[in-house]
Amino acid sequence: VSAQNIVVLQPAKAKDTISKNIYGHFAEHLGRCVYDGLYVGDNKKIPNKEGIRLDIVDALKKLKVGVLRWPGGCFADGYHWMDGIGPKAERKHTENVAWGNVRENNAFGTHEFLELCEMIKAEPYLALNMGSGTVQESSDWVKYVNHANGSSYLTDLRAKNGRSKPWNVKYWGVGNESWDCGGNMTASQYAAEYRKYATHITNYGNSENLFRIAVGPGSEDYNWTETVMRDIPLKLIEGLSIHHYSVINWAAKGSATQFPEQEYFRTMEQAWRMDKFIAKNSEVMDKYDPQKKVALIVDEWGGWYEVEPGTNKNFLYQQNTMRDAMIAGLSLNIFHNHADRVRMANLAQIVNVLQAVILTKEEKLVLTPTYHVMEMYNVHQDAVMIPVTVNSEDYVMGDKKLKAVSVSASKDKNGSTHVSLVNIHSNKEQNITINLGELGAKSVTGRILSSSKIQDHNSFENPNLITPVVFNKATLIGNELKVTLPPFSVVVLELK
Ligand code: AHR
Repeated sequence: VSAQNIVVLQPAKAKDTISKNIYGHFAEHLGRCVYDGLYVGDNKKIPNKEGIRLDIVDALKKLKVGVLRWPGGCFADGYHWMDGIGPKAERKHTENVAWGNVRENNAFGTHEFLELCEMIKAEPYLALNMGSGTVQESSDWVKYVNHANGSSYLTDLRAKNGRSKPWNVKYWGVGNESWDCGGNMTASQYAAEYRKYATHITNYGNSENLFRIAVGPGSEDYNWTETVMRDIPLKLIEGLSIHHYSVINWAAKGSATQFPEQEYFRTMEQAWRMDKFIAKNSEVMDKYDPQKKVALIVDEWGGWYEVEPGTNKNFLYQQNTMRDAMIAGLSLNIFHNHADRVRMANLAQIVNVLQAVILTKEEKLVLTPTYHVMEMYNVHQDAVMIPVTVNSEDYVMGDKKLKAVSVSASKDKNGSTHVSLVNIHSNKEQNITINLGELGAKSVTGRILSSSKIQDHNSFENPNLITPVVFNKATLIGNELKVTLPPFSVVVLELK
């Protein structure tokens, strides 16, 4: 019965800001994410600026990307940054051992990445090589990128390579998945190594301190979180990262586009697990950092399926359907609602890999349903999160049930309130009553992303099948909003 969907906004309890960095992305040297994705080199058929594809830059600017993580992922722990600087023709060719042993010509390196970030106005987030690199190599990278006015070999080299001003990169990840591809370390080994790295990367007199991000768990290994938080002094750590993919079974991930409802349900179950994963990690962090100084950073998240038929299995190229739109809306709501601790998240990955916001094929480009959700939701960036209580109907399959409705809300600096709603139910619309508390809104408008089949997606042949349209099923009656959400839809409302 519809009356079961009751949402109550609590504006009087609003205190935490939704960081723009929750709208972060991840670009790894993997498959066609960087080469033949973001970077097309001297391909004359595709408009580009020094190799960086301009239609992608335009699309990413509209998305308002908060932060962009690079160069990996597993790739990062095998990457030597010195291979990617200097005249392109002279750069050493290496092998991408993490992803299919393909030849890496290093044409896209530190300068190219940081220029891309400037073009799309995103904060860069660099992942240091702890797995196969050295403390010295990492400390040199920070110096090369950030040292403002020193006179040294590295700052001279930067200037010789075309950049005299420092970039002032704030976010630095110390290793990646160090319990696996980043070195197969134990938690205590990692914490001991981390302390050395965190000590020797310094800010070289920049006004803002570095933001050092330690590797956290990628499964329910809360002992990892416990050890890292216990063994790393608070003065050496600003963030702890976690990874969680909505994958139904690592051995049989299922097709990205041809899936039965049962697989859809299992993907949603995995997407909802993010909530518990964040809550439990925060609980452990609270023990060692009750003031919530250390941010929880979800620097890899998204759906993961089998690759598209006929494509290289190491390239992780997958289509993106309304199922992915559900993962995106649900995950962003979860991040918002944990704004007290979650201050960055990075969708994996930005172009042509996993749950991408953009897919490319030669000169063609497709914006995926995930792109549209992130664009609709970006009104929440840097707004104050309004806590919500949600009483939702269930979405039931066999003996399992999930909440069908997910909600988050925020108030921006102009006084507008935005409410984001997701109905993951595959075949049932949801009638929702939203009590607005003390908000006192006078008008409501909105946009919706929906489609007729959950497997629907935007393709190179039909790129605009799924795009946001005006939503007119929200009615304001006094202090209450009545909303009808179609099955598997995402809605963002604006209240003034
Ligand atoms: O995003 C793909 C891979 O997934 C990353 O390289 C790694 O960190 C994770 O296992």
